[in-house]
Amino acid sequence: MAGARKIIIDTDPGQDDAVAILLALASPELEVVGITAVAGNVPLTLTEKNARKICELAGRPETLVFAGADRPLERKLVTAEHVHGKTGLDGPDLPKPEMPLQDKNAVDFIVETLMAAAPGEITLCPLGPLTNIALAMRQEPAIVPRIREIVLMGGGFFEGGNITPTAEFNIYVDPEAADIVFRSGVPITMMPLDVTHKALTSRVRVDAFRELGTRTGEATAQLLDFFERFDEEKYGTDGGPLHDPCVIAWLIRPELFSGRDCNVEVELQSELTLGMTVVDWWRVTDRPKNAFVVREIDADGFFGLLTERLATLP
Ligand code: RIB
Ligand code: CA
Repeated sequence: MAGARKIIIDTDPGQDDAVAILLALASPELEVVGITAVAGNVPLTLTEKNARKICELAGRPETLVFAGADRPLERKLVTAEHVHGKTGLDGPDLPKPEMPLQDKNAVDFIVETLMAAAPGEITLCPLGPLTNIALAMRQEPAIVPRIREIVLMGGGFFEGGNITPTAEFNIYVDPEAADIVFRSGVPITMMPLDVTHKALTSRVRVDAFRELGTRTGEATAQLLDFFERFDEEKYGTDGGPLHDPCVIAWLIRPELFSGRDCNVEVELQSELTLGMTVVDWWRVTDRPKNAFVVREIDADGFFGLLTERLATLP
């Protein structure tokens, strides 16, 4: 796709990851150079399979899917079956994938792709724990200045945490990896809970997917019917937060979002607040503004984009 923005999606599907992948595959503005799976919501053996299931659902079995880290850099893996179900993709009964998993390790793919591309050509879109990204930076530090931007879903500040009172899941699972990424100097756009909690999958919005009358529309509705139940119960809201598609929507329609450049640092020492992203939103320090932190979203515009684009899939 001439002129399309080249992206690598790093992901731990996860129903919301799945919708993000569908949006990316359905959007001509983007060229998905590869999808790299990481352990997170569920173990790696499931996240890599789920990524392939979603590519086949989208009618895109030629997509390159790679498996990466099966655990965080230093800590024991924490998973989220309580949210995503035991398969990580509970809801629809999607067929076992036939498309291949690539032999190459995801971290090697990230490094080789960045080293082969022109500087500033590739955008990384992490939707799960940042283990693969941190490993790639460690393996080949020369990739750091070659990355155009990292647009990630992770963290939270005004909204607090979702896996502990202060930490969001993706950061909490591998805080050391997150620290490496946030200190890397790569331009970062951060989609924290502060914005994703404003993107709720209300009944009307889920029905809009079902009314598409396509297999993707039906599967998406079933994914979200399952996914939202946990957060609806927890937050008492109509619908659950659709986290990961915010990353992809930013690349397509950034005008749907607003935020500001801030310093963001990750807590690594305290047991009480481990994995907290400390956002200097009011700029009370002179610490470097290392991330564009998004706080607002046009939720109707976001779901309109999602529905419009998913309508183009089978
Ligand atoms: O905290 C929400 C994030 O954790 C999302 O990316 C979800 O898929 C899980 O990975
Ligand atoms: Ca995710």
